[in-house]
Amino acid sequence: MTTPPGRNGGTFPGPCAGDARAPDNAGDAVERRRTRRFFNLVAPAFHLIDRNLIPAYREVLEGLRFPPEDTVLDLATGTGTLALAFAERGHTVTGIDFAGRLLARARRRLPGGDLRQMDLAELPSLPAASWDGVAMAYLLHGLSPAFRRFVLCEAARLARRWILVFDYPGPGPLIVRIIERIEGPHYPGFIARPFEDHAAEADLAVAGHGVTSHHGGWWLLRPGAGTPSGGEELS
Ligand SMILES: C[S@@+](CC[C@H](N)C(=O)[O-])C[C@H]1O[C@@H](n2cnc3c(N)ncnc32)[C@H](O)[C@@H]1O
Repeated sequence: MTTPPGRNGGTFPGPCAGDARAPDNAGDAVERRRTRRFFNLVAPAFHLIDRNLIPAYREVLEGLRFPPEDTVLDLATGTGTLALAFAERGHTVTGIDFAGRLLARARRRLPGGDLRQMDLAELPSLPAASWDGVAMAYLLHGLSPAFRRFVLCEAARLARRWILVFDYPGPGPLIVRIIERIEGPHYPGFIARPFEDHAAEADLAVAGHGVTSHHGGWWLLRPGAGTPSGGEELS
C-alpha cells in the first residue's frame, strides 16, 4: 500500500490524507458561483470595509513581527487589504481571489503585486511549501464545513512555517449577523464552535490567538502539527 502524499511533501496519515482536491459535489460548485456573484455585486461598498479592517490587520502584524523576508500567500485576498498590510511590512505577497471586481481594486492598491484570479478549489495545482506563511481573512466563516476543511488542509500543505487566520470568534453585532446571513448559510455553524475545533479538523494546532475588536479574532496555526513529517517550530 502506498502512503498518500502529505503536507510539505512529507507523508501525512492525519485527517487531510487523500484530500488532493476540493469537495466535488455539485452543491459546492453552485454555492461558489453564487458567492463570487455576491462579492462582485457588493464590490463598490468594499472601501468602507477596507477602512475598518486595515488598522486591525496592521496592529496584529505589528505584534506578530514575522520576518519581513517571509513570503506570504493571502487566500481570498478580496481588495487586498491584508495583502497590503503585509506588503507595508516588507513581505512579498501573492493574493488569490475569484471575484474580479474586488481584485481590480487590489491591483490598484498593490501595483505590480502578484494578484491572481483563481478559485480556491484550484489550490491543489500550486506546489507544496511554496510560501513561508499562508494568511486568510474573513474567508472561513462563509465556507461549507467540507470546503473549509479543504482550504485549511491546503493552507497547511502550501505553508512552510505558519498560517494566520482572521475571522469571527463568536456572534457579532446585529448588522454583522444580517450581512453574513445574506452572504450565505455557513456563518451560524462557524461561530457556534470554537475556532480550535475547525483547526483540529485539518489537524492544525493553534499556536497563538487574540481579538481585534469586539467581533474580530485572529489565530496563528502551525502546519504539520502532530504529523510524522512535523512542522517547523515558530520562532
Ligand atoms: C469577506 S471577503 C474578505 C476579503 C479579504 N480577505 C479582506 O479581509 O478584506 C471574502 C472573500 O473570499 C473570496 N472567496 C470566497 N470563496 C472563494 C473561492 N472559492 N475562491 C476564491 N475566492 C473566494 C471572496 O471573493 C471575497 O473576496
